[in-house]
Amino acid sequence: MRHLMSPLDLSVEELNSILDLASDIEKHPDKYAHVCDDKRLATLFYEPSTRTRLSFEAAMMNLGGKVLGFSSADSSSASKGESVADTIRVVSCYADICAMRHPKEGAPLVASMASSIPVINAGDGGHQHPTQTLTDLLTIRSLKGRLDNITIGLCGDLKFGRTVHSLIEALVRYPNVRFILISPEELRIPSYIREDVLIKNNIDFQEVERLEDALPDLDILYMTRVQKERFFNEEDYVRMKDFYILDKQKMKLAKEDMYILHPLPRVNEISTEVDSDPRAAYFRQVQYGVYVRMALILTLLEVKLPC
Ligand code: CP
Repeated sequence: MRHLMSPLDLSVEELNSILDLASDIEKHPDKYAHVCDDKRLATLFYEPSTRTRLSFEAAMMNLGGKVLGFSSADSSSASKGESVADTIRVVSCYADICAMRHPKEGAPLVASMASSIPVINAGDGGHQHPTQTLTDLLTIRSLKGRLDNITIGLCGDLKFGRTVHSLIEALVRYPNVRFILISPEELRIPSYIREDVLIKNNIDFQEVERLEDALPDLDILYMTRVQKERFFNEEDYVRMKDFYILDKQKMKLAKEDMYILHPLPRVNEISTEVDSDPRAAYFRQVQYGVYVRMALILTLLEVKLPC
């Protein structure tokens, strides 16, 4: 039985095979419409979500399966003090696979150790968000035709932004990927990513503060929101929240074939006037998230694929 806690749980071959399957699902959705007719997905969300929870549920429904779960800790017995370990033991009796989001780093890992069904980390605190990374990889590969030989700018809250941590861990395994890390001093990437992932693997990266300085070099710009829920005080959040605002004027500095990604939700960091720019790919990214979660469910459940 396989769980997914971080992109590092998958080899590059496995990552590529999930992306290939997702692309086939995009082209031939009917072929996969009943492959999970007898399967159930549980979504255990202890923290708010729109995309991740609903795309998991849409993914399972597209495969013919059923879904059950809860969308907040308040509406589950966690509010009465039940542990994630006990909860997953119970849910293992109701479902074949589970996606769990939790505000505490490592909670899905704890659940996986007590589980008799595959557990997927759907975001744990400021740590990891591996299925957003699968979404991001599929989006980049579909739009640029490759995952190697790219310069990617990651901009915003690189300290608490779990999507950024997971994406870096995945992309460093592809050849000649260069990172420009754009953040204010207080929101720089954590040292475990800088030291243990980038420096240790001899990856080409630079840390800058001004988005305008990085924009002309980028093939991909990955914008992120300042993670209000991870700040200890409101004052620091208010000071940081509008540090970056991508607008039409700044987009004049970018290449014609640069794409903008964002895991969403967006607050102010991308002006809505940018949405009509053909390089704005963040809503296309949402659709890729459904295909790739379908592919992941099939892979972890080891479902026999149609020819
Ligand atoms: N990208 C993402 O994780 O969005 P949600 O918080 O809406 O799931």
